[in-house]
Amino acid sequence: MAVLEMRFESLLCPRFFYWLGVTALAWIVLRATWRLLRGAQVFLIGSGLRLGEFGRWAVVTGATDGIGKAYAKELAKRGMDIVLISRSQEKLDQVAEEIREQFKVETKTIAVDFGGGAEIYKVIEAGLAGVEIGVLVNNVGMSYSYPEYFLDVADLDDVIDKMININVMSVCKMTRMVLPAMVKRSKGIILNVSSASALFPAPLLTLYSATKSFVDFFSQGLHIEYQSKGIIVQSVLPFFVATKLSKIRKATLDIPSPETYVKAALNTVGLQMQTNGYLPHAIMGWIMTSLLPVSMIMNQTKKVNQGVRARYMKKLKEKGD
Ligand SMILES: NC(=O)c1ccc[n+]([C@@H]2O[C@H](COP(=O)([O-])OP(=O)(O)OC[C@H]3O[C@@H](n4cnc5c(N)ncnc54)[C@H](OP(=O)(O)O)[C@@H]3O)[C@@H](O)[C@H]2O)c1
Repeated sequence: MAVLEMRFESLLCPRFFYWLGVTALAWIVLRATWRLLRGAQVFLIGSGLRLGEFGRWAVVTGATDGIGKAYAKELAKRGMDIVLISRSQEKLDQVAEEIREQFKVETKTIAVDFGGGAEIYKVIEAGLAGVEIGVLVNNVGMSYSYPEYFLDVADLDDVIDKMININVMSVCKMTRMVLPAMVKRSKGIILNVSSASALFPAPLLTLYSATKSFVDFFSQGLHIEYQSKGIIVQSVLPFFVATKLSKIRKATLDIPSPETYVKAALNTVGLQMQTNGYLPHAIMGWIMTSLLPVSMIMNQTKKVNQGVRARYMKKLKEKGD
């Protein structure tokens, strides 16, 4: 008993707390240095991966605008032939011509609406027959027209069907279609565009945020399942990018143009299974996931989205008057 008491007392002596403090501080400094060096490698040096070596063609969904178009152009710039998939044949033809002229690569187009049912995948499968796919970018996505309480979303049943078909079903079905040939060749890259709103539930964008969280989990799980077979699956979680979907026109440092964003994101392929893709977004992601309490982020997101909703309603009312 006396021996036990002595050991307990010695644990409480100032020397013990001194060394506990020193060890904790050293751990924090080491961890921060490691993350900083890793961040520098990811965002300043990049992976240097030659994407063209994974196969001749890249397939991009939602390829005629915003982030998808930027992926299509950046992959073409790196020498890949491109299959563009979106709804409007006219826009597909325009972008395909732009890419052919600018980068001297081949293009194919497939016009489908991912909001539709499973039958569209037969059309896509026929369009991709005989195509050696090195990179698949599952980019197509839809969000709410403005932040709203779940039950007050206009045409809610339709929005549920479409959002799950476009944001979730497309990722699973396209992966199902393309992965077997990649596994057979022991190489391939699948880039799934999720969203920073997958990091935490986003009140008033709840369904969108939940579908993007699916994409994130699906991608990370798949990466671990198939990395030993030569396949890279990356979950890409952007914060705001200046596109039609975000309704932001002017690019800034923290809201990059799709071109700036994608150029940075492609350099992280092979280095990060889950990435915010662009240095300022990675810093924002790090602050949110490492420093702030979840409840605070969710309440703050709710407040911000309530503000956006209020402004949208006001504008709508003014238009009506
Ligand atoms: N922009 C952001 O701030 C942001 C942030 C986080 C995550 N994301 C994600 O990034 C991805 C791309 O977003 P974005 O901002 O680049 O969007 P965007 O500028 O609106 O472009 C969307 C693209 O998808 C196509 N598309 C839309 N609905 C389609 C459908 N039902 N079937 C087939 N194609 C369809 C559009 O072409 P057509 O209209 O001709 O079909 C267009 O090419 C989405 O998954 C989004 O959730 C964006």
